[in-house]
Amino acid sequence: MRIITVANQKGGCGKTTTAINLAASLAHLGKKVLLIDLDPQGHASFGLGVDTQKRDYSIYHLMTESGNKKTDVQKCIIEYRRNFHLISSHVLLSTIEQEFSDKPNAVMKLNEIIKSIKTPYDYLIIDSPPSLGFLTFSALRASDRVVIPIETSCFSLVGLNKLLSMIELIKIKLNHTTIVNGLVTLFDRRVRYSLLMFEEIKKCFRDNLMDTIIRVNISLREAASFGKAALEYKRYSAGTKDYLKLADEILKDNKIRSLNKFYRDTETLIARSKSILVKFALHSPEAQYVYLVGDFNNWALNDNSLLDRSESGGWQKNLTLKPGRYKYKFVVDGRWIHDPDNPHNEDNIFGSLDSVLNLE
Ligand SMILES: Nc1ncnc2c1ncn2[C@@H]1O[C@H](COP(=O)(O)OP(=O)(O)O)[C@@H](O)[C@H]1O
Ligand SMILES: [Mg+2]
Repeated sequence: MRIITVANQKGGCGKTTTAINLAASLAHLGKKVLLIDLDPQGHASFGLGVDTQKRDYSIYHLMTESGNKKTDVQKCIIEYRRNFHLISSHVLLSTIEQEFSDKPNAVMKLNEIIKSIKTPYDYLIIDSPPSLGFLTFSALRASDRVVIPIETSCFSLVGLNKLLSMIELIKIKLNHTTIVNGLVTLFDRRVRYSLLMFEEIKKCFRDNLMDTIIRVNISLREAASFGKAALEYKRYSAGTKDYLKLADEILKDNKIRSLNKFYRDTETLIARSKSILVKFALHSPEAQYVYLVGDFNNWALNDNSLLDRSESGGWQKNLTLKPGRYKYKFVVDGRWIHDPDNPHNEDNIFGSLDSVLNLE
C-alpha cells in the first residue's frame, strides 16, 4: 500500500480538491483507494457528501481510543464507491492537536491505525489541515510521498521552508524518508502572474515537480459543493482530465529524486523568495506611455521600466524587491510625477517630490 499525504500549511491552495480528485481518479483507474480526512474542518468528508457531525466512527474516534474502548477501524470506513473508501474527520480532531502535541509517542498513533486496516488498499490518501501541528506531522510520518499543492495565483512559496523543514526533521530524527512532490494548482494561463509563479515553482522543485498542472476549473469547485468528485460531476471537464493525468503520473511513479538534493535547491529558492513582490499602479486613462523609475532601476527610462496598460485605464508593474527603502516616480507621457496613491514622499534636489517605499 502506498501512502500519499497532501500537505501545505497554506489554506486554499487545493489540498482537499487534490486529495478527493486524486483518490477518485486512482479508483477510476482500477486501484483500491482509501481517503483519510485528517482536517478537523472536514472539507474532504463534506466534499464527498458525508456530514462529519453525525458520525460516531471517524479518524478522531480512532486516534483517541484507549484500552478496552477500542474503536474498530473497519467500522470507520465508509464505502463511498466500490473502490473508493473514506474515513471521515470530526470537528473534535482539532482538540487532539493541543492534547497530543507534547506526547512524543502519540505521533505513531496514525501509523498504528493504518497498520490495523484489514482491507487491502493500493493507495491511501491523507488530506491534512492548513497548519504544521501534530496532525500534519503524523501524516508526514506515516507517508511514502507528500504532494504539496502550490497555487499560482499569489506568492505561495513563502512559508514552504517550514513544511520542508518538518519533512527533513522526520528524516533525521525518525529515520523516515518521504518523496516530496510539488504540484502546480489553480493555474490560469491567461494570467501573466500565474506564468511568473510557475517559473519560480519550477526553479524550486525541478525534478520533484509533478509534470501534471492543475488548471483553474470551475467544475472542481462545483463538484465539491455537490458532494462529488469531479469525475462524477462532469466527466469531461478540464478538472477531471487534469486529476486523471495526475493519477496516471503517480501510477508511473517516476519522480524519486533524493530529498537531500531537492532540499538544497529549495533553500536557494527560499532565500530568494524573501524578496517582496510589489505591485505599482497608476490610474491614468488618457496616458500613452507610463514609466516607473526609481532607485531600484537607476532611474532609467527604457522598455524595462514601461508599465502595462489594463483595459480599465490603469497602468501597472510588478517588481520583486529586497527589503529596504526606495524612492521612485512615474513618468507619464514625459511628465515626472510622484505616486498620488502613496502618502509617503520627500523633497528632492529638483524641487519636486519623490515617492518613498519602505519594505520591511
Ligand atoms: N483547480 C481549481 N479550480 C477552481 N477552483 C479550485 C481549484 N482547486 C481548488 N479550488 C477551489 O478553491 C477552494 C480551496 O480549495 P481546497 O482544495 O479546499 O484548498 P485547501 O484544502 O488547501 O484549503 C475551494 O473552494 C475549491 O473548490
Ligand atoms: Mg482543505
